Amino acid sequence: MFARVGVLSLVLSFFAHQGSCSIDLDTNSPDALKSTAKKLAGGIISFYNDSLKDFGAPGLFPDPYYFWEAGTVWNALVGYSHLTGDSQYDTLVSQALQFQLGDYNAYMPVNQTKSLGNDDQSCWGLAAMSAAEVGFSKPGNASWVDYATNVWNTQALRLDMEEKSGVCGGGLRWQIFSFNKGYDYKDSYSNGNFFLLSARLAKFTGNATYSQYADKVFKWARDVELVGDNFHVYAGTQTTSKCSNINRMQFTATQGLYTEGAALMYNITGAQNWTEAVNGLVNASTTFLSSKTSYIVVEKACENIEKCDTDMRAYKGVFARSIARAAVAAPIVSDTIQKILSRSAAAAASACTATTQMECSFAWANATVTGDSATAKDGNLGEIFNALEMVQGLLYPSAKALNTVNGTVSGKGNGNETGNGGKIEGYVEKGAGAMAAIPVSMMVALVGVATVVISL
Ligand SMILES: *[C@@H]1O[C@H](CO)[C@@H](O)[C@H](O)[C@H]1NC(C)=O
Ligand SMILES: *[C@@H]1O[C@H](CO)[C@@H](O)[C@H](O)[C@H]1NC(C)=O
Ligand SMILES: *[C@@H]1O[C@H](CO)[C@@H](O)[C@H](O)[C@H]1NC(C)=O
Ligand SMILES: *[C@@H]1O[C@H](CO)[C@@H](O)[C@H](O)[C@H]1NC(C)=O
Ligand SMILES: *[C@@H]1O[C@H](CO)[C@@H](O)[C@H](O)[C@H]1NC(C)=O
Ligand SMILES: *[C@@H]1O[C@H](CO)[C@@H](O)[C@H](O)[C@H]1NC(C)=O
Ligand SMILES: *[C@@H]1O[C@H](CO)[C@@H](O)[C@H](O)[C@H]1NC(C)=O
Ligand SMILES: *[C@@H]1O[C@H](CO)[C@@H](O)[C@H](O)[C@H]1NC(C)=O
Ligand SMILES: *[C@@H]1O[C@H](CO)[C@@H](O)[C@H](O)[C@H]1NC(C)=O
Ligand SMILES: *[C@@H]1O[C@H](CO)[C@@H](O)[C@H](O)[C@H]1NC(C)=O
Repeated sequence: MFARVGVLSLVLSFFAHQGSCSIDLDTNSPDALKSTAKKLAGGIISFYNDSLKDFGAPGLFPDPYYFWEAGTVWNALVGYSHLTGDSQYDTLVSQALQFQLGDYNAYMPVNQTKSLGNDDQSCWGLAAMSAAEVGFSKPGNASWVDYATNVWNTQALRLDMEEKSGVCGGGLRWQIFSFNKGYDYKDSYSNGNFFLLSARLAKFTGNATYSQYADKVFKWARDVELVGDNFHVYAGTQTTSKCSNINRMQFTATQGLYTEGAALMYNITGAQNWTEAVNGLVNASTTFLSSKTSYIVVEKACENIEKCDTDMRAYKGVFARSIARAAVAAPIVSDTIQKILSRSAAAAASACTATTQMECSFAWANATVTGDSATAKDGNLGEIFNALEMVQGLLYPSAKALNTVNGTVSGKGNGNETGNGGKIEGYVEKGAGAMAAIPVSMMVALVGVATVVISL
């Protein structure tokens, strides 16, 4: 996502965001958190309803919102249902998550081929994982964790190929398809998402294969220094430099992904190295605060210079969700995290107005940054999502525990969730013999080898 070009020129409204209509949130009141989350979720859904009428395909938001952002927004709405108890959007969300599964039930719909990154695919895989963890109604005969596992299986295969071919000693590439720009980039978003998905599957299923992969992709990120000194997470690196030159930009989202994954690994193993990692990652997260005492999150790489693109304007929400969940898995870091969530949620709410339609602006800490206030329809879907995740993140301590395969949570039709996947017809289940039936582009995507395209 990071390297995508696509500067918007939107017609934005220029309401001053700290006006009298801004939301005044008491972060100690669960009722206030829930009613604010409800307004924010409503702002997203009303935009979705409208765009569905114009645009058609369930699960997507129109340009300039990429596929990853849609998956990540559905993930927020799965969380919304769990954290607030408001299930009015469950059917709509479930439909969105199923419609975009693609032919192999692994979130690689052909319509997305020209820009489908590993990060895009795994954002949807993580949403399916959330659905499994909160006991979201079962999708037909399948199970949510199977969809998450299908994503994991395709990416684990790609990772194995990278390890075998020796390109940078491992790590996922950003792009899935070799013909897309960014295939030669190994980024912390794709690798962070895969690390997190591995850790969540490990926690959910208790299957050691997932912990082993989480362990090795984390080690790889440390080795190439995508997770660098003092646990700062950097954007990515080029395979053409053998991953020796690191793009040292730092973004909130990827810091959050690694923090949550490390918190889960700490929870599962109790090991010293994961204790250090989760502490270090939270400590490094403070780099994104407007000041040491304010605890308000700022997207420092781009916010004050007003250069955050559409993707970047949704990173704070990814960060919020991940740190909130990290605090659940690793109570040893919850003090700092609660301060960040609480101060940032209040600031985020006050940057939103809920008059006839929900409008939010991006900048929470610095009134001199314009931070144009707008609805999701007018370009600020990310801003509304960010505020939603910050606000509802504060509800984790009072919410039901997340599900595991042995758990007893919710009984909303959760069952037979082995975490073994196996819905990728013709590849994982039927073996190599059935691969001829899969279109070449998909086969390459599944295996992830550039030379297959060239030799055919
Ligand atoms: C969106 O549409 C769904 C049904 O299609 C409806 O239940 C819901 O009330 C609508 N929500 C908003 C906020 O427009
Ligand atoms: C793919 O695009 C076609 C044409 O716009 C549309 O009918 C279909 O619903 C889309 N499929 C998905 C999964 O988005
Ligand atoms: C679900 O399983 C039942 C019984 O195995 C089968 O009859 C039905 O067609 C399946 N439905 C779907 C949507 O696969
Ligand atoms: C589930 O229960 C089995 C049998 O008691 C145990 O071996 C496994 O580790 C448990 N899994 C999780 C994720 O707790
Ligand atoms: C953490 O330490 C354990 C041994 O306690 C080791 O097996 C594992 O590979 C280490 N993981 C990382 C990411 O350093
Ligand atoms: C916290 O992060 C800062 C800045 O990266 C670093 O100087 C410091 O050593 C870290 N502290 C701990 C306890 O990791
Ligand atoms: C606020 O933004 C301006 C530029 O728009 C910048 O010069 C200033 O340092 C920022 N202040 C803080 C506290 O980040
Ligand atoms: C592990 O996570 C659970 C919540 O899933 C939490 O209750 C427990 O305290 C955590 N364990 C540790 C050692 O922090
Ligand atoms: C679980 O699997 C068993 C047998 O494989 C089947 O009888 C049962 O209906 C399944 N339960 C659910 C909730 O799908
Ligand atoms: C553990 O997960 C891996 C990867 O999905 C799978 O191949 C394996 O069968 C699973 N093991 C068990 C015991 O379920």
